[in-house]
Amino acid sequence: MNGKFVTLEGCEGVGKSTQLKYLKEYLEREGVPAVFTREPGGTPLAERIRAVLLDDSLNISPEAEAELFATARRDHIDNFILPALNEGKLVVCDRYLDSSLAYQGFGRGLGLETVLRINAYAVGKCMPDLTVFIDMDPLKSFRKMSGKKIEHDRIETENAEFHAACYRGFKEIEKLYPERFRSVVPEQDKSSTHGKIIEALKKGGVL
Ligand SMILES: Nc1ncnc2c1ncn2[C@@H]1O[C@H](COP(=O)(O)OP(=O)(O)O)[C@@H](O)[C@H]1O
Ligand SMILES: [Mg+2]
Repeated sequence: MNGKFVTLEGCEGVGKSTQLKYLKEYLEREGVPAVFTREPGGTPLAERIRAVLLDDSLNISPEAEAELFATARRDHIDNFILPALNEGKLVVCDRYLDSSLAYQGFGRGLGLETVLRINAYAVGKCMPDLTVFIDMDPLKSFRKMSGKKIEHDRIETENAEFHAACYRGFKEIEKLYPERFRSVVPEQDKSSTHGKIIEALKKGGVL
């Protein structure tokens, strides 16, 4: 296995998708063989589990939710991430384990230990080489500031306290994994944020 695995984390509306687009263009320009994927999802089975997880007509317990995320993750690892890493590719994933720790562990209140235990088997052979965390308070996110309201799925529509707890969670996780976790405070200027992310990837030995 000689590829590198990078995950991008952060709360809702802080610019993850925007930055992934910039990163994709950058890697194409530089000729770096890379694949982009997202969680929950990335394989046919995991995309089906995603649809279940985001369906706001379902009442899913926090425990079941955490296990569904872990199952989707395991399929994604086995059928997408590891094969791409074995081909030597740079794999960039929009959300991964840390989102489970923050959202299910802190947002839902299951606790870090429980969510780590639920995920341990899934991620045992596949931890990120580097995680870029876009460090921005979700209650003051770019999306919120722009006045765009496109929250629609079962998790996005959770209340402000839930999202604040997720953010606090990410800040705890930062302390737990200092070797792979890189926080980037985003700028109003999207290209400056992009520059900071490239710098973090270079310093982390991924580029
Ligand atoms: N640096 C930025 N400055 C201003 N607006 C931004 C910035 N980054 C993203 N946005 C805007 O904020 C909204 C949410 O961005 P998005 O990339 O979809 O976030 P996420 O994927 O993290 O939910 C979009 O409307 C996007 O255009
Ligand atoms: Mg997004």
